[in-house]
Amino acid sequence: MCPTDRAAANRAAQTDQDPEAGPPADAPEMLRLSGLGKSFRLHNQGGVEIPALSDVGFTVRAGQCLALAGPSGSGKSSLMRMIYGNYRASSGRIEVRDGPEWVDVAAAAPRRILALRRQTLGYVSQFLRVVPRVATIDVVAEPLVALGRPREKARERAAALLTRLNLPERLWELPPATFSGGEQQRVNIARGFALDSPVLLLDEPTASLDRDNAAAVVEMIVEAKTRGAAMVGIFHDINVRRAVADLRYDMEAARESAA
Ligand SMILES: Nc1ncnc2c1ncn2[C@@H]1O[C@H](COP(=O)(O)OP(=O)(O)OP(=O)(O)O)[C@@H](O)[C@H]1O
Ligand SMILES: [Mg+2]
Repeated sequence: MCPTDRAAANRAAQTDQDPEAGPPADAPEMLRLSGLGKSFRLHNQGGVEIPALSDVGFTVRAGQCLALAGPSGSGKSSLMRMIYGNYRASSGRIEVRDGPEWVDVAAAAPRRILALRRQTLGYVSQFLRVVPRVATIDVVAEPLVALGRPREKARERAAALLTRLNLPERLWELPPATFSGGEQQRVNIARGFALDSPVLLLDEPTASLDRDNAAAVVEMIVEAKTRGAAMVGIFHDINVRRAVADLRYDMEAARESAA
């Protein structure tokens, strides 16, 4: 398939939605990407520029989940880091609805991006960034405490999430640094769901989980959609993807036109 065919296929995928399954087509737009490009400059190789993505565009409405699809190395995690503001876009716009305003993450000041993350934009990264010496329950409660919720209330909410994700209570007061991959992933998911973020990014949230825990995460994603969250996810597990995704964006379209 040539790049323009792929781009057209992606546009079609946006509208190829089962009207029974998804939210109403007039649900408000929450995330809009347009003309988004990224190249990496390799400083240790004479500053050579490696094109990674070009002309990425899609829209996600409240209550929808868009799955990023494409092989390893096609730029899925990089795109997610761009939406979260960790990687700078080389071109294009990343508009996130923040209450009555739209914020363009590709152009916003760092302080504005931090404020956006605090209230609106959540991110479950592929791996937990472990803060030494902080107890698991406080790692999960932290986004709520940062918003000014009383610490005890925040810890109650954290406990409910950890229970739901079957993390044994004996681990709650320990820092997650020595936890297994699957335990750390569940702590990361609990933290990502502590706030009811209106826009949520999920990078392979079930990759290290067994079937029962993956099912608990699927349930949480579906609930978040029902309350109106707009989500972008990477789901290698086809069953998980089928259970949660309303839209699909094929990264190969973006990559081929970058080359
Ligand atoms: N900071 C960086 N500097 C240079 N190149 C990078 C950087 N981050 C990512 N890349 C490159 O961009 C490409 C896409 O990487 P990315 O992690 O986004 O892929 P992915 O689709 O998430 O793959 P996977 O399915 O394996 O997680 C890779 O070739 C990677 O080496
Ligand atoms: Mg990745």
